[in-house]
Amino acid sequence: MNKSLIKKKYKEKIKSLDHYNKRYYNENISDITDAKFDVLKKEIIELESKYNFLKNQNSPVSRVGFKPSKNFRKVAHRKPMLSLANAFDEEDLLNFEKKIFNYLDKKDNFQIEYSAEPKIDGISASLNYKNGKLTIGLSRGDGKEGEDITSNLKTISDIPKIISSEDFPKEIDIRGEVFIQNSDFEKLNEKFANPRNAASGSLRQKNPDETKKIPLKFIAYTYGYEKGLKVSCQSDYLKKLKQWGFKVNPLNKTIVGVKNLMANYDDMEKKRSELDFDIDGIVYKINNFEMQKRLGNVANAPRWAIAHKFSANSGISKIIDIDIQVGRTGALTPVAKIKPINIGGVVVSNATLHNEDEILRKDIRVGDTAVIERAGDVIPHIISVDLVKRPKKSNKFNFPNKCPSCGSETIKEFNSLTKKNDAVRRCSSEGFKCKKVAIEKLKHFVSKEAFNIDGLGKKIVKNFWDLNIIKLPQDIFNLDYKKIELMDGWGKQSVANLRYSINERKNISLERFIYSLGIRHIGLENAKLISRYSKSSKNFILLSKNKNFEDLLNIDGIGETQINSIKIFFLNLENLKVINELDKILKIDNAIEFKKNGSLMNKTFMFTGKLQGMSRAEAKSLIEQNSGSIISNVSKRLNYLITGEKPTKRKVETAKELKIKILSQTEWLKILNKTS
Ligand code: IVH
Repeated sequence: MNKSLIKKKYKEKIKSLDHYNKRYYNENISDITDAKFDVLKKEIIELESKYNFLKNQNSPVSRVGFKPSKNFRKVAHRKPMLSLANAFDEEDLLNFEKKIFNYLDKKDNFQIEYSAEPKIDGISASLNYKNGKLTIGLSRGDGKEGEDITSNLKTISDIPKIISSEDFPKEIDIRGEVFIQNSDFEKLNEKFANPRNAASGSLRQKNPDETKKIPLKFIAYTYGYEKGLKVSCQSDYLKKLKQWGFKVNPLNKTIVGVKNLMANYDDMEKKRSELDFDIDGIVYKINNFEMQKRLGNVANAPRWAIAHKFSANSGISKIIDIDIQVGRTGALTPVAKIKPINIGGVVVSNATLHNEDEILRKDIRVGDTAVIERAGDVIPHIISVDLVKRPKKSNKFNFPNKCPSCGSETIKEFNSLTKKNDAVRRCSSEGFKCKKVAIEKLKHFVSKEAFNIDGLGKKIVKNFWDLNIIKLPQDIFNLDYKKIELMDGWGKQSVANLRYSINERKNISLERFIYSLGIRHIGLENAKLISRYSKSSKNFILLSKNKNFEDLLNIDGIGETQINSIKIFFLNLENLKVINELDKILKIDNAIEFKKNGSLMNKTFMFTGKLQGMSRAEAKSLIEQNSGSIISNVSKRLNYLITGEKPTKRKVETAKELKIKILSQTEWLKILNKTS
């Protein structure tokens, strides 16, 4: 890589870090997981240390937080509010200690005493007291300047407004964490991803009366500027804080030796889910202030402290119950209801157990303490359970052999490919007989890729099923709008909107129609293949009459599994009735004939950015109609990159590097018009 390319890459990374920081600190929104954010930060640090020419004073990694928002008056901190370096394992801790030994020129047998404090995941604040009176309260801001949020902080009952203790310093900035307790967070109506966001949102309201509504807490743990503070170590300072009327963390400890720090860390990680406040690690501070002073700071963090972070994608919590969910295809999925726990910024209260075999293999039981993993956007799942912590009277989990929704037998199908029974147990009911299956089928029917009916979301579908308004797909097109208008939560306008969007969808493409039926193994791609083969809804429905299912084997991409599933679907009389009824009501468009030797033959296309006046699906179809094909990443195989509004920069740049032709939407449409 040449110098300018490295600089460009570096700048891009800084730009996105700045963006996430701004969203997080100023708008209280996390657009990125903590783990991904840490990776981004690490990549920047690595680039900086590898390439000297990148070292610029503006590097966001040597900054703390983000510039204060314009909503509040900015005030400089008299002593900067520092950040902490992170440790993730024992090795990091040993390195941390080694550096201290070197710096202080101590021998390996020297023992350091630490103050180990659970790291509350909240918002830090600095409270200035003059002659025992709270004068001003600041947020951290960028570490140098904070926002004047005094009025909001004053609403917090944990924060003393006047302190009359004799030994309280003449002037001091008491620093600590503002947070919201988990039990209070659960009671909130507003939607926040986690307690931290709720605390931050509440603290940075313009109106203190709004702040008051959310019960914020304050825990003190350090100080900034001070005049007349007479203590010589952190543990004594914490004791004093308590005497002066501040809350301090009851789980603070003084510990000697890395081995003991590790034991305390493991213990806290297990206790974490039982605490009423979120902690995301343990902060270790050298207890002795004299030593702290000698060690001083590096860039924006002290040399004498470190944050030992808990894993950003796993946590330990208790299984309260095991629920069995019934899906659209009748599959019974066990889900563990767990005591809510914050994993990497997301509060997790459900974890999938996949299937019966998984529960048996891991011997997962109600009451167990379990390790839960949440990786990326995947549904959280249980890694293992702690047998030592298992309650004495626990029972093996009995997977139901009757469907919990309709009581039908549950079965494990024989898989002819693997010659084994499926791991998944299914409800054996057919068509729309089982309530849960029926509701899931209806939800699928109205979903985005199927009928995409605006205003008929999942909750409404369930509600309408319960009220006997929609039991089968065709009922959607025969609604009694007068009756709905009189129902709770509905009015003239919302009913008119619903009627409009339902009527709009009476005209549908054959592939969407096939997909919406929710036939097992017939997803979007297969529905498209079958629609191209059938050409018209008439032909598709004829399949059931002529029973010539085997003909479908001619379709490239359709195999025994899919054909079997279509057969089963058409053998069911209720399904047949649904299709016939829908065919009467709807106008199902014939499949578009694709040109075999269209002018875009052998050409590959990719889209980036928002297109004007057409959806991606329509654009894709226009290309396919002319024998072109779509690919999903920029590689040498790509012939054209079509850019809409706000294209992904990275894609455009890679395309340029690979000398791929880049077209605007207009340019592309011109080519299309010439060819079709
Ligand atoms: S000491 C110079 N102590 O962690 C020391 N910080 O990444 C800096 N935090 O901004 C602060 N619990 O918001 C300290 N017991 C504790 C803490 C703690 C949570 C937060 C605080 C700080 C961040 C550092």
